[in-house]
Amino acid sequence: MALTPETARKLANLGAQVAVEAGAGDTAAVPDEDYRAAGVEVGPADQVVRGAGIVLAVQAPAVDRLKGVENGALVAAIFDPYQQAALVSDYAVAGLEAVAMDLMPRITRAQSMDVLSSQANLAGYKAVIAAADTFGRAFPMMMTAAGTIQAARVFVMGVGVAGLQAIATARRLGAQVSATDVRSATREQILSLGAKPVFVENVAGIEGEGVGGYAAEMGEEYRRAQAQLVSTHIAKQDIVITTALIPGRPAPRLVTDAQIASMKPGSVIYDLAVAQGGNVEGARADEVTERHGVKIIGYSNTAARLAADASALYARNVYNFLAAFWDKEQGRPVLDEEIGDAVRLTRGGAVVNGRERG
Ligand code: NAI
Repeated sequence: MALTPETARKLANLGAQVAVEAGAGDTAAVPDEDYRAAGVEVGPADQVVRGAGIVLAVQAPAVDRLKGVENGALVAAIFDPYQQAALVSDYAVAGLEAVAMDLMPRITRAQSMDVLSSQANLAGYKAVIAAADTFGRAFPMMMTAAGTIQAARVFVMGVGVAGLQAIATARRLGAQVSATDVRSATREQILSLGAKPVFVENVAGIEGEGVGGYAAEMGEEYRRAQAQLVSTHIAKQDIVITTALIPGRPAPRLVTDAQIASMKPGSVIYDLAVAQGGNVEGARADEVTERHGVKIIGYSNTAARLAADASALYARNVYNFLAAFWDKEQGRPVLDEEIGDAVRLTRGGAVVNGRERG
């Protein structure tokens, strides 16, 4: 949900009139009653959207669901613009102002508005919990009268927001954790969480840093060295969590079928990048597949499996964004150049985003 009763009250304090689609909060455990108690009008989507100057959503709705909104209404949602060019151009044609929460710049003052971070953190946690649940063995070492159970070995590939939370969660469950990334800056972070860094050494490009703190796409020599390193390491792992993404590009392929075959039967892989094409060969969106006795989990929206927390954090991200730029006179946010140029996709009938236009 893009709105919770808490953020609805705060929006009302800014002077907004707030309405919500009936039943929209059900899966996030927020009944319509709670919205009504917060002073929110509740009704069918096609009715409550009429006359809106601002529309908040999780996934950007198709424009035909926005009939009757104000001219030039601002729609703040996750647009996934690199994969949704047609939807973006529909917004331009409809004269809407599309604001992609998923293009929020990684700058300090926008941290509280950063939906990729808030959702990736939850996804990293949930991936480990789901993998542990699927795994037929325990995570911590246990010494019992009947004998000793060895700690599970967990390997996290990609140490951004999701990967860091995955490491921390696996450590809390008592696993032996190792992790890798192309950005060498993550080595210290891995160590500080009590995990073992596994890194390519002595190959061009090992600093791995691209634009805006994100990873760069790696060269051929690096990719070969990485594949070899992963091959020797992965055969000894029980659980692999992959999170590697490169903005605007398909997810890098990190685990091949041959590497899966080298793992012990009963091992579990969780591919958090499955919606962007997947890090793992054979991973399929929204399915658990099995190859060579290894289960591969590929839920495409892992954060939504913690719907209540995902909603609470997403709604706060959206509120923080609106509030930071709120203009009382106009009753809507007036974005500044730095953040506005980064997140705005369409305005005045045109696609206006530089990254979107390429
Ligand atoms: P992401 O979701 O784009 O990617 C996940 C991880 O995969 C990254 O650590 C990336 O380096 C890694 N990766 C990419 N290709 C790989 C490959 N071939 N092999 C192994 N790993 C690979 O990353 P996320 O979580 O969005 O974080 C990106 C950066 O932004 C980080 O430096 C993070 O600390 C920073 N950040 C800054 C914020 C701020 O200042 N407001 C907020 C959140 C994150």
